[in-house]
Amino acid sequence: METTLVLLKPDAVRRNLMAEIIGRFERRGFRFRGMRLIQLDRATAETHYAEHSERPFFGELVDFITSGPIVALALEGEGAVLTVRDMMGKTNPLDSAPGTIRGDLALLLAENIIHGSDSVESAERELAIYFPDGLL
Ligand code: RTP
Ligand code: MG
Repeated sequence: METTLVLLKPDAVRRNLMAEIIGRFERRGFRFRGMRLIQLDRATAETHYAEHSERPFFGELVDFITSGPIVALALEGEGAVLTVRDMMGKTNPLDSAPGTIRGDLALLLAENIIHGSDSVESAERELAIYFPDGLL
């Protein structure tokens, strides 16, 4: 059984899409092992997105993810990492199929409303950032 880290980004919270997105994960059958509404500081955001630190869009990425409250979720289920990524759609919402979260709810690459860990190793690293006291 896998557990993955999901973030509802500030645009999702601002656009009142929390229940819409969380409901999809509930209906799919994931077990919720953690859920927090938090405001990221820059240092934590830079740690989260460390793999992108040399990219030209890194500053804007950190600006955006720290621009308002986010929701961190720890979701457990069979194949949770890939299943969540499939439910999210492609990174660019314009490439995301209808029926996916980004394909139904987003239009902009920089405001693509959701993050999901991209591997089991990433999930372990990221879960430790957002749930340092462990999971339920
Ligand atoms: P995320 O990490 O946020 O779940 O998204 P992802 O795995 O689908 O995409 P990733 O390659 O990890 O990129 C992280 C975020 O950076 C923004 N991005 N901007 N301007 C650009 O070319 C560009 N490329 C990526 C996106 O907002 C993406 O979610
Ligand atoms: Mg990523």
